[in-house]
Amino acid sequence: MADAARNNSGLAKTGIAGRTILLVIAGGIAAYKSLETIRRLKDRGARVRCVLTQGGAEFVTPLSVQALSGEPLFQDLFSLTGEGEMGHIRLSREADLIVVAPATADILARMAAGLANDLATTVLLATDKPVLVAPAMNAAMWSHPATQRNVATLRGDGIQFIGPAAGDLACGEVGVGRMVEPDQLVAAIAALLSGAAGRADLSGRTALVTSGPTREAIDPVRYIGNFSSGKQGHAIAAALARRGAATTLISGPSSEPDPEGVTVLRVESAREMLAACTAALPVDIAVCAAAVADWRVEAMTAAKIKKGANAPALQLIENPDILATLARATLRPQLVIGFAAETESDPETLVRIADAKRAKKGCDWIVANDVSAGTGVIGGERNAVHLVTAAGTESWAAMDKTAVAEKLVDRIAAAVTAAAPAA
Ligand code: CTP
Repeated sequence: MADAARNNSGLAKTGIAGRTILLVIAGGIAAYKSLETIRRLKDRGARVRCVLTQGGAEFVTPLSVQALSGEPLFQDLFSLTGEGEMGHIRLSREADLIVVAPATADILARMAAGLANDLATTVLLATDKPVLVAPAMNAAMWSHPATQRNVATLRGDGIQFIGPAAGDLACGEVGVGRMVEPDQLVAAIAALLSGAAGRADLSGRTALVTSGPTREAIDPVRYIGNFSSGKQGHAIAAALARRGAATTLISGPSSEPDPEGVTVLRVESAREMLAACTAALPVDIAVCAAAVADWRVEAMTAAKIKKGANAPALQLIENPDILATLARATLRPQLVIGFAAETESDPETLVRIADAKRAKKGCDWIVANDVSAGTGVIGGERNAVHLVTAAGTESWAAMDKTAVAEKLVDRIAAAVTAAAPAA
């Protein structure tokens, strides 16, 4: 990875300018977004070489790709401009980063299997550089166990993912499967290239972060929720991704933007969040920052509850505890971290409560903070936390939530690399 961050003069570069990006365009309707991505990368001073698969050429023309990139286009394994001149090995090695966008279910499957049956997969198999993929497919294809198996394999191999996002799909359905927008892809590329030039000490590791509130439906129009903004959890996911961890963020409803270079899955209820978390296992690191509703209404009514003489009595039942479930899972992550948001201003009492919570839930660390009304922590930009571990407690001064995230990820990187050095 260190070599990936070096240019020909041997100096580490940061960001996009002056870097060579090899963009593999596979066959999906989202290929048009790749054309826009080429333009934006070029605007930021990158050299963009493109490989267009046979499927990709059904969606965008070789001429548009070549004209926009200003470089020869590579399409066919056996007709590269003379194997001697620019063979697939050189093509894959001369890039600082390989980006597969759109990445179809088919190319993900071929990558996961290690196939090399066209130029794109050959280049991907031959590379020693970071690879970022931006999946795009129908929602059922994305959630299919076969695709998810392939994604897990690729994550384990250190492949980075961005998206897919939720929304309207080209097939007319709605769900998770849209390729991220060009600005998100460019931001993820910038983050990865900066990470590769800096500390990518979590590269090859996988992480799962929960964030935001959950919503528990009462009837079709009402829900039980809470004031969590998702700022802290999202910042942790972003920091993990910047350090090279293949990160999945499972977020309840939050208006925070999707962090760069992170696979974001949006859910509503605690039970949906739990299902998404267990489906994301195995991971090396789990950080449960979500404010999960402790209770849900036992029986959601199918029809809207009408106003009557008496206020309705809601029968609540407890939600599953996601943190405790992950901490006790057969595929338990190596490091499981929870939060304890308490309305407790006395630091000693706060730490005592947090330590008891750590033991009760079976997690390794608890990040404890006082969220009493006057602190402005919920929804605010700053946070003052105590990191409670079996080895003792660190109390950090109030700082920006992004700084808390960076510092926490420093501790995470130190712990996981000490326990199991990267291969
Ligand atoms: N948590 C979870 N699933 C739940 C409830 C909480 O994963 N159903 C996680 C939170 O994400 C957080 C930690 O557990 O990391 C602590 O949450 P908190 O609400 O403080 O703990 P509770 O067990 O709900 O205890 P309390 O009675 O203090 O609310």
